[in-house]
Amino acid sequence: VIRMSDLDLHGKRVLIREDLNVPVKDGVVTSDARLKAAIPTIELALAKGAKVMVMSHLGRPEEGVFDAESSMQPVADYLAKALTAPVRLVADYLKGVEVAQGEVVVFENVRFNKGEGKNNDELAQKLAALCDVFVMDAFGTAHRAQASTHGVAKYAKVACAGPLLTAELDALSAALKNPKRPLVAIVGGSKVSTKLTVLESLSGIVDQLIVGGGIANTFIAAQGHNVGKSLCENDLIPEAQRLMAQAKARGGNIPVPTDVVTGKAFSAEAKAELKNVAAVAADDMIFDVGPATIAELTAILKNAGTIVWNGPVGVFEFEQFGAGTQALAEAIAQSEAFSIAGGGDTLAAIDKYDVAAQISYISTGGGAFLEFLEGKTLPAVAILEERAQN
Ligand code: 3PG
Repeated sequence: VIRMSDLDLHGKRVLIREDLNVPVKDGVVTSDARLKAAIPTIELALAKGAKVMVMSHLGRPEEGVFDAESSMQPVADYLAKALTAPVRLVADYLKGVEVAQGEVVVFENVRFNKGEGKNNDELAQKLAALCDVFVMDAFGTAHRAQASTHGVAKYAKVACAGPLLTAELDALSAALKNPKRPLVAIVGGSKVSTKLTVLESLSGIVDQLIVGGGIANTFIAAQGHNVGKSLCENDLIPEAQRLMAQAKARGGNIPVPTDVVTGKAFSAEAKAELKNVAAVAADDMIFDVGPATIAELTAILKNAGTIVWNGPVGVFEFEQFGAGTQALAEAIAQSEAFSIAGGGDTLAAIDKYDVAAQISYISTGGGAFLEFLEGKTLPAVAILEERAQN
């Protein structure tokens, strides 16, 4: 791909697609990780003397209508404080927009445009016409072939990759394509079904796969244990068994929790009980791993050369069920391994246990991170590669 850092942007109209899809409450951004990650790109464009336009989606509003709840105003307000350059939010940018050198124009939510989701050609061409150079920097949205990610890159005079996008791709490639071994992947979260392809693809690459959370419950059930009222996908038990057999055939295993922390209700007040995995009662729900399992998992992490982390191993939003995820976060932080983490819940855990500084790379991607782990080509990256060739 062509890299933004290699281009002369002086006096050029530069349209940057970022993933500024951040949580907003009462008009205020509540988690700014994606904004912080995008700012260096915007600053670099300013430093290069560009006329800077920034666009993103926010939430999943209905197309073709303005929806105040999904407005980019809180993001523009945040950027106005964070950048030294003046920041202006523009809603009717498709008609054309004047941008001065040294200012930053933020476009209103691209998902307000009809045709965005379906990657409409006419819309993509309108976006492309607004700039001399299009910069794709939204790694978190690179798995979406939409007008503001893929279509605009197809039609822009010049289409290049921004520094955040290339940093993400470089870090993920380093972890998966040429890792220092042993390569350990932790896949947690609630459902096997949403991460089955990730599990499958990773199980073919990693030296050790660790499953956690609701996903682990299906593996516990696959070993013939009773999981009570826990989140568990019975129809995926054969898949879990197959993955375990596959790991065994490769000389490894997928460790299944031997002790668990259970509760009788999904609530912050639920009483936590430590149990052997064979002793889970019919009315129990598994919410975390116990100390024996924690010891086993942290020992694996200690020896890792590379760690890929997606998803918590327990319901860490409730204090009494957070020990497993905390121990894991700290073990990754203390490990010498090259570590990479991604996904919304994972980032929340990293924040909660304050280990961000000790993780080698934290991805801004949720779905995009997972698709990369699945070995899929991200369409918005593929088009940049195509454009670089002709
Ligand atoms: C994300 O939060 O994963 C990205 O911003 C993509 O959002 P989407 O799933 O609504 O396309």
